Amino acid sequence: MFSPLIFLLLLALPLAISAGKCRIGTVVNRPFTNQPYSFPTNWNESHSAPHLDADQSCSWVVTIPQGFYVKLVIAGRINDSVGHFQMVDGNGNVVMSQHENKEPYYFPSPKFTLIVNNEAPATFGFKVQWAPFPIINEYEAGIAMLAHIVNITENVFGAEFSAPGASLMAFPANTSHSHTLRSAMVFQGKDANGTYLTNLFNIYNTHTQYIAPNALIYIVNVEAQGVKDKLLVQSSQYTNDLNPYHQLFCAPGATCSKTLNGGNSKSGLVYIEDQDQTLNAITMDVTATLSIYYGSQTDFFFLGSYTGATIQSNLPLTFSGGYMTQYIISHGKAELTLQMSNDVL
Ligand SMILES: *[C@@H]1O[C@H](CO)[C@@H](O)[C@H](O)[C@H]1NC(C)=O
Ligand SMILES: *[C@@H]1O[C@H](CO)[C@@H](O)[C@H](O)[C@H]1NC(C)=O
Ligand SMILES: *[C@@H]1O[C@H](CO)[C@@H](O)[C@H](O)[C@H]1NC(C)=O
Ligand SMILES: *[C@@H]1O[C@H](CO)[C@@H](O)[C@H](O)[C@H]1NC(C)=O
Ligand SMILES: *[C@@H]1O[C@H](CO)[C@@H](O)[C@H](O)[C@H]1NC(C)=O
Repeated sequence: MFSPLIFLLLLALPLAISAGKCRIGTVVNRPFTNQPYSFPTNWNESHSAPHLDADQSCSWVVTIPQGFYVKLVIAGRINDSVGHFQMVDGNGNVVMSQHENKEPYYFPSPKFTLIVNNEAPATFGFKVQWAPFPIINEYEAGIAMLAHIVNITENVFGAEFSAPGASLMAFPANTSHSHTLRSAMVFQGKDANGTYLTNLFNIYNTHTQYIAPNALIYIVNVEAQGVKDKLLVQSSQYTNDLNPYHQLFCAPGATCSKTLNGGNSKSGLVYIEDQDQTLNAITMDVTATLSIYYGSQTDFFFLGSYTGATIQSNLPLTFSGGYMTQYIISHGKAELTLQMSNDVL
């Protein structure tokens, strides 16, 4: 006999947000209605992460039609040392984590894969939403000697850059909150129909430049994040001899020490904010040189150089902010201590 109580429970089941178990190989295609897909069913970003049973091993392949991208919102925590969440884009770039707090990821066509493994009981839920790419090309820039600096995630943005190998560096407004760079994607060619390469979040996580394999690339930011993350685009002919090559992040008024270790090769630090920078201390090989450029590494932007043997008597040295300042060490290990000017009020 069907009791009224069981009948009520059956009715309530599809509404409850709990699954607990999941499986490998679920393929998710965009529905014609363009409704989002969620796991567990009905989960969305206004809910906390639901419970996931111990010992799950699950994956979803989310397909994305040409001309569309997907926004993934994921929440959860792995509570053991071996489990993880793993997001793999269509070009094989992987992001792994044990904690996700609804900071979105964005993926272009043709697909992305979400993998979850856990041993201990965990929490986990996600939602994907498909959307057409904004059709936008604000400008085409041929990158030569003059580098381009773009506010990349403040607004929806799209632009084409041509250079014999564009060098890209990402400068998040907040280095401990760099997920806003995920909505900025890099494609080969002149629009988002081209082969997807990577996004600026992945590039930032390498802490160095990304050199595009093609002469023409298209960069699109699909969602306004309202933050001042910046993208530096240079021609790699002026950057490919720098290894390591790092961004200099240092807040107004702060003093920061940065170490470079180029071994036998050149290494560099690049600063693109407005503050003046005072080099108060430096350790470097006495046979090495520090060269300063107000722009890409060409004669035109060369300001001066100092050798390790003589630089100590020249300190402190103040360099101007406002465009870009590069500190290039010819070889060996160096440590620079720089003090930033205060914000102009
Ligand atoms: C999330 O789901 C709840 C129902 O559980 C619904 O009321 C709410 O509108 C949804 N929020 C979003 C952002 O979709
Ligand atoms: C992880 O597991 C431990 C032991 O079972 C438990 O005390 C803790 O609350 C769990 N943490 C989370 C985030 O689930
Ligand atoms: C970026 O935004 C800031 C503040 O709105 C503005 O001053 C600056 O000129 C912008 N930079 C570029 C390269 O557009
Ligand atoms: C940067 O992000 C972190 C982590 O979200 C936050 O705690 C911090 O306040 C942010 N810093 C600034 C200057 O906004
Ligand atoms: C892809 O190419 C077609 C045909 O040229 C064009 O209409 C469309 O806008 C392109 N899509 C994107 C996302 O750039």
